[in-house]
Amino acid sequence: MCYRQAMALPLIAVLNGPNLNMLGLREPEIYSAQTLDDLEAYCAEAAESLDLAIDFRQTNGEGELISWVQECRGRAAGLIINPAGYTHTSVALMDALLAIDLPVIEVHLSNIHRRESFRRHSYASRAATGVICGLGFTGYRLALTALADIVEVEQ
Ligand code: DQA
Repeated sequence: MCYRQAMALPLIAVLNGPNLNMLGLREPEIYSAQTLDDLEAYCAEAAESLDLAIDFRQTNGEGELISWVQECRGRAAGLIINPAGYTHTSVALMDALLAIDLPVIEVHLSNIHRRESFRRHSYASRAATGVICGLGFTGYRLALTALADIVEVEQ
């Protein structure tokens, strides 16, 4: 067993907000025909290749999402979050992201700047280290890659 395998892998939380459980059924022309399970498998494969562990979750509840963000403090090395509709509405989620003192990458499957004007504003972005949108599943892989680099520099 190599040294890298013997060490615990850095844990990245991958949190998904409301209606992302409907991927595959929901507006496939915007979000693709692939499902949340497909996204989880895609992220797991990308994480493995980057020597990261992931905790992948989805909830429709704002309070639950905020509790999961809070749990990351002291537990995870970084956070990838697609806050979905709460991106544009939730000051409370932004406050939670600011409170965890971790690198945060905000990801959106669609390009929120190309859609309705209300989607152009993100509360979450005020707390994000970086933001990726419009690249579908690839955005999650790029976010994992960015966090792998950030975590390595921080170690
Ligand atoms: C989304 C974009 C949001 O505006 C929308 O409310 C979502 C999904 C995306 O991944 O493109 O639910 O976050």
